[in-house]
Amino acid sequence: MSTHFSAVDVIRAKRDGQRLTDAQIDWVIDAYTRGTVADEQMSALAMAIFLNGMDAAETARWTRAMVLSGERLDLHVDRPTVDKHSTGGVGDKITLPLAPLVAACGAAVPQLSGRGLGHTGGTLDKLESVPGWRARLTTAEITAQLGEVGAVVCAATEGLAPADRKLYALRDVTGTVESVPLIASSIMSKKIAEGAESLVLDVKVGSGAFMKSLPDARRLAEALVSIGVEHGVRTSALLTDMSVPLGRAVGNAVEVAESVDVLRGGGPADVVELTVALAAEMLSLAGISADPAAVLASGEAYETWARMIRAQGGDPEAPLPVAAHRHVVPAPADGVLTSLDAYAVGVAAWRLGAGRARKEDPVQAGAGVLCLAKPGERVQAGQPLLELRTDTPDAVPGALEALEGGYAVGDEPPRSRVLVLDTLRG
Ligand code: URA
Repeated sequence: MSTHFSAVDVIRAKRDGQRLTDAQIDWVIDAYTRGTVADEQMSALAMAIFLNGMDAAETARWTRAMVLSGERLDLHVDRPTVDKHSTGGVGDKITLPLAPLVAACGAAVPQLSGRGLGHTGGTLDKLESVPGWRARLTTAEITAQLGEVGAVVCAATEGLAPADRKLYALRDVTGTVESVPLIASSIMSKKIAEGAESLVLDVKVGSGAFMKSLPDARRLAEALVSIGVEHGVRTSALLTDMSVPLGRAVGNAVEVAESVDVLRGGGPADVVELTVALAAEMLSLAGISADPAAVLASGEAYETWARMIRAQGGDPEAPLPVAAHRHVVPAPADGVLTSLDAYAVGVAAWRLGAGRARKEDPVQAGAGVLCLAKPGERVQAGQPLLELRTDTPDAVPGALEALEGGYAVGDEPPRSRVLVLDTLRG
């Protein structure tokens, strides 16, 4: 690659509001991955991008350069491949029932996932509460499992978009995470490198999400879909509500248990609705005509789940870990639960030990919050509203503080919740 570029010239160009050329982008990402461009230079460039943005073509090129910084998986399976990515929410366990459901309908679902950071949980942390289950697979194991079971949920391999891994860590400590082109290119570089032919994005909107407002979430969804299309990946985005936690369980083992309920034909209505809506969109992109609601009800998705867990060393029938300590929050009055804030519940679960503050921190498998009532349900004064679970009872006061003002009981039922707010198709 040409070396006549200088990092300072690239930084100045973006600082002064210019477009970056394809050659500048290719050079700076490659040089940063190899260590020739220093962290302080990339920090300055990330801040210039944060302040001055990148247009759709720059963002697509930036994504391409990050994909090319590592390997692109060659999934060669004989079924259509389709994946889902969520921008992160509270109680968002949808991958757990969704991956086996879509596989049971005939697609192959390679879901390379991450761990939780902050108030949103991570799929790998949840699955690691299943005794014996292992997140790390080799590329050969991923492809073999996709062929045999149809679904794999595992950790991203080291070689996938290394430029993003370095840049995301840098953005985390330089106040440059919340930029639409940087978020969109970060998410899509990993998904494109993963090699699925189709992708459905679940872009969360509301207090528990990255994007608090519908216009911001729509801008992110448009950027994500446009990058997917540019790279030949059939891509759709659902904008979905994240102002209230999804389902009743927020944590790790408690979310696995709720997902198993869904796979056995029960579970909370919102989790079932979103699982079926995302499955329908994934199957449509994959060109498969199947009725996901019927397949879920038939028990076939549960069979695929059990095979998926066993293939990664887990025991789907083993009892899940339970936290040592429980603390109940009672309803303050008779009435209707009018609100239950996703962010407040997410922070409470995190403080109880379900999440981590730094990447290297451990998580507690049994910790979390059970929402015993959801908005719109009638409650009586003193009735248990929330159940906090933890192995470290010292964490309870911090969790209770996070929940202050996070729920309300009144006379008027809240407006009914619309879960899927919009769908964007590439
Ligand atoms: N998730 C990612 O993978 N990257 C971001 O930049 C933000 C969320």
